[in-house]
Amino acid sequence: VVLVLDFGGQYNQLIARRVREAHVYSEMVSHKIPIEEIRARKPKGIIFSGGPASVNQPNAPVVDPEIYNLGIPILGICYGMQLMTVQLGGIVEHPEASEYGKAMLTVDVTKDLWKDLGGERPCWMSHGDSVHKLPEGFVVAAHTWNTPIAAMMDEERHFYGVQFHPEVKHTPDGQEMLVKFLYDICKCAGDWTIESFIELQVAEIRAKVGKKHVLCALSGGVDSSVAAALVHRAVGNQLTCVFVDHGFMRKNEAEQVRKVFTEQFQLNLVFVDVHERFMQKLQGVSEPELKRKAIGNEFIRVFEDEALKLGQVDFLVQGTLYPDIVESGTDTAETIKSHHNVGGLPEDIQFELIEPLRMLFKDEVRELGIELGMSEEIVWRQPFPGPGLAIRILGEVTREKLDILREADAVIIEEIRRAGMYRELWQSFAVLPSIKSVGVMGDSRTYEFPIILRAVTSEDAMTADWARLPYDLLESISSRLVNEVQGVNRVVYDITSKPPGTIEWE
Ligand code: XMP
Repeated sequence: VVLVLDFGGQYNQLIARRVREAHVYSEMVSHKIPIEEIRARKPKGIIFSGGPASVNQPNAPVVDPEIYNLGIPILGICYGMQLMTVQLGGIVEHPEASEYGKAMLTVDVTKDLWKDLGGERPCWMSHGDSVHKLPEGFVVAAHTWNTPIAAMMDEERHFYGVQFHPEVKHTPDGQEMLVKFLYDICKCAGDWTIESFIELQVAEIRAKVGKKHVLCALSGGVDSSVAAALVHRAVGNQLTCVFVDHGFMRKNEAEQVRKVFTEQFQLNLVFVDVHERFMQKLQGVSEPELKRKAIGNEFIRVFEDEALKLGQVDFLVQGTLYPDIVESGTDTAETIKSHHNVGGLPEDIQFELIEPLRMLFKDEVRELGIELGMSEEIVWRQPFPGPGLAIRILGEVTREKLDILREADAVIIEEIRRAGMYRELWQSFAVLPSIKSVGVMGDSRTYEFPIILRAVTSEDAMTADWARLPYDLLESISSRLVNEVQGVNRVVYDITSKPPGTIEWE
């Protein structure tokens, strides 16, 4: 394993992901990880991520300096390089000019990590601070026009620092540099694949679970389905899946889920219809975070009830993905929304969690699903949030609004599929705001809800762009929504990317 130490920043997990793309298993861990734990995990290499702080700030995140005595190669990226600098006796300063965006990197050495990487190459910079004086034992490895020390190295101890970001696509040779670090410096074998991930997880889950009983929150979405299949592979029928129909599912979804998982997968599936219970909990609740928390809490309570019926249950499987964790706030990243799977958990939760996908991005999960023998239909489903349609009805959720939204959503998905665009879009769906507008139909005045159409492209939900849907498709969606969905008289298209918008409206 190669450990990526997290110093904040929204895109740090990309580093671990790039390492996995190089067929080396990698996980991101908090920078507060105890040295004993690092020792125990025997990483072949360590990468310090970037981060928003300045190493000269009083409360800047640091790492136990003992890490430099482990004899493990270290690569520091941006903040990571600066931290390594000050911890090893160099100086970091805040020069007048910062450097943001594309820069031309001139490599000054032609050996070790930089062998075969000489000359000039573009890289992506994003820093205010810079290394001013090297720590002892280091030499300058590369510079840009306004950053004299853009890369540094200590060949002897195998410590490397880069001021630029090799993990982003804007640094075209970044992956090559990472690969060199992993293969030439860390001596990684590069034989990690998604199958080895399955083996590793299966072994870990078995060891953790023993003979105990596991419950899985199955939503029918890609994440929980793949998580369930993975845990099922590990512990077979010690796993019971519970599908909670909270009433905020898409049209026919609950029924589909029941069919797929009992007929195709033959999992132990308990199907609970508790939509009344959820409607009650949401009465009068319109603030998005309260709504999310209310749903998350109730969800777990339902689980506890089901678990009681099943006898002793010790573990709960959730299909939490990495982006869910980042956005719910980690040690260093700021909270954007409390995702249903994470922030909504009550404090007194009675299960231990198993989250086998917590290190992965969506496309990695899809690959995993296929490897586990799941159908393309499930694996390629567009993501759907845990709280479901409830967070796509802005303000208070009512039965009337749910009916409108469910119908509208079905029309949109049908049209998107018909146009052959379902897979290329990350998500396409309807949002129902709590305003009405005036229209005219036939000869009469209408005063009804608009539907907001949202369709985005994305690689991992961390960033997204609004989809450039063809006008003809927009036209057919619009006319069908107004004609077929009772209570709708207008359609608008959301053309906001993420950031600054989020994909969902709440
Ligand atoms: P946002 O709206 O934050 O969404 O840009 C990012 C991705 O996460 C999905 N999402 C959720 N998934 N539980 C989930 O399992 C949730 O509470 C939740 N909220 C948002 C969203 O659909 C998008 O794919």
